[in-house]
Amino acid sequence: MNAILPTTPIIRIAGLTLHFDDGQTKALNGVELDIREGEFVAIVGPSGSGKSSLLNVIGTLDIPTSGVIFFHDQAYSDIRNASLFRRENFGFIFQGFHLIPTLSALDNVIVPTIGCAGETDDYRARAKSLLTDLGLAERLNHFPGKLSGGERQRVAIARSLINRPRVILADEPTGSLDSENAQQVLDLLTGIVKRQGLTLIMVTHDTSVSARADRIVRMRDGKVEHTQGTAP
Ligand SMILES: Nc1ncnc2c1ncn2[C@@H]1O[C@H](COP(=O)(O)OP(=O)(O)OP(=O)(O)O)[C@@H](O)[C@H]1O
Ligand SMILES: [Mg+2]
Repeated sequence: MNAILPTTPIIRIAGLTLHFDDGQTKALNGVELDIREGEFVAIVGPSGSGKSSLLNVIGTLDIPTSGVIFFHDQAYSDIRNASLFRRENFGFIFQGFHLIPTLSALDNVIVPTIGCAGETDDYRARAKSLLTDLGLAERLNHFPGKLSGGERQRVAIARSLINRPRVILADEPTGSLDSENAQQVLDLLTGIVKRQGLTLIMVTHDTSVSARADRIVRMRDGKVEHTQGTAP
């Protein structure tokens, strides 16, 4: 997506494991992966191969069983306040949108700013501007139930960007959309990511989506089996 990428990785992962059920389930089983700043990485692989687990560990939603993971020079094992670290660095987008049904589009977008130091009016203005960029200027006060799937995912994209993250973690973001809406959502997301120089890590089963990535990382049995594209 970017012609020139810095060579230093934004995320470095070595020997990463994530075990459940006293080690009977090895969701991650020795992942080795570097991700460069500004890169669009698609993570593909069979169901159960550990794709969501890897995103969750990168986003500090799960704590690994062993191995090392760095964000720039910050070792995850040294992070004291995971929720602050997460809020400052990561935006999340999920297949099922995960919007709060009783909040308007605008209020959903500012949910991740709750507890942040800034002014509510500033966050509301930024949310409005993000939703407008995503073509939802006429939908600010709509509740999720009154929005189409593509519109809901665009609200979720705005929400993922509200705290100016460096990395967007997206788990099957187009998985609930028809192909036309999927391409539109992807165009909007990749456009914003490219303009802002963000890093995008996206799990997808859709080959028309992964074809647009800088690099395709294929997982199997909790490991990176193969990567395709320019190596870091
Ligand atoms: N909280 C959990 N407790 C126990 N096992 C888990 C847990 N989360 C994931 N697993 C197991 O870890 C393995 C990897 O799961 P993961 O959700 O990462 O797969 P995935 O590649 O995202 O699959 P899919 O394409 O179906 O979403 C699976 O065998 C899954 O059942
Ligand atoms: Mg998954």
